[in-house]
Amino acid sequence: MKINGSGTMRFATEEDLRSRLEAGDLIETSDQMSKEYILGLKGILTVSADTELMSAPSYTRAARHAPTINAFVSAMAIIQDELGHANIAYRLLEDLGFDKEDLLYEREPHEFKHPYAFDVPLDSWVELVCANALYDRAGYVLLGDIYKNTTFAPWKRGLLKVDREENFHLRHGETWIRKICQSETGREEVQQAVDWMFPMVMEWFGLPDDKKKHKEQLSYGIKGSSNDTLRQIWLGTGVPFCQEVGLELPVHWNESGQKYELDYPFPCQFDEDEKRWLMEEGQIGWDDVIRRWKSRGPSNKEFVDQIQHGHKELQALMEVA
Ligand SMILES: [Fe+2]
Ligand SMILES: [Fe+2]
Repeated sequence: MKINGSGTMRFATEEDLRSRLEAGDLIETSDQMSKEYILGLKGILTVSADTELMSAPSYTRAARHAPTINAFVSAMAIIQDELGHANIAYRLLEDLGFDKEDLLYEREPHEFKHPYAFDVPLDSWVELVCANALYDRAGYVLLGDIYKNTTFAPWKRGLLKVDREENFHLRHGETWIRKICQSETGREEVQQAVDWMFPMVMEWFGLPDDKKKHKEQLSYGIKGSSNDTLRQIWLGTGVPFCQEVGLELPVHWNESGQKYELDYPFPCQFDEDEKRWLMEEGQIGWDDVIRRWKSRGPSNKEFVDQIQHGHKELQALMEVA
């Protein structure tokens, strides 16, 4: 972990931090945080910043398939929003003493912390708008929870804009899906995309609550809801939308448990070449999933290179000069 001027960094004691939180006061600056709080915050902010950032090359690749100039411009507007969201999170990391340039340009592709979903390429306009309806919905749920509940005040203020824009992104996806699903062939193509993208989103929310080891982000109120709760919140709007447009998802509502239950082995293995979940091979362990996440997906290197190559070219030029 690299912290700028870490020699002079002062942390609050755990006791001071807890009494501030118990009084209902929000945290403004790093000297009001304990070391554990700042590490928990760094973890979740890095995931958020990397997720926003890496959606940009992923969406840019798919936007080549835009059916009209207007559609292309809308996709570019969403990508511009995502880069703005990334900037908010990296800027907060910088204010906490972490090196933004290092995070952006000096990390190896496998060191980025975004969800595996953004390493799997989107190959059509249908897959892009499905990503808006499914992936941006995950962003909206996760960031909406932080916006409402976080104890870190600067992030709460920054998320006011992000929350509204994520809502626009998912509506963009829904509008296109409604239109494409009006034809039988269109609906079939959307269904094919959703077949591999829906399990991707379920995995995005992370380990089930009974398996999660690091709980400091919840106990400090950096975020408000657990992984399983957030997964259910996604299902609460994602499932009715898909049903409305005639799409099938492997999930059902359990009336007695008052929650959604998945109808496929969760988690299971993913075939990157076929873009298909190997549901027939049954459930795998979360250790296997974490191993796949850490070795990253098929487009990881290509997408990180797109972010970094201009910076590296200029650096080389300046060194020669
Ligand atoms: Fe975003
Ligand atoms: Fe978004």
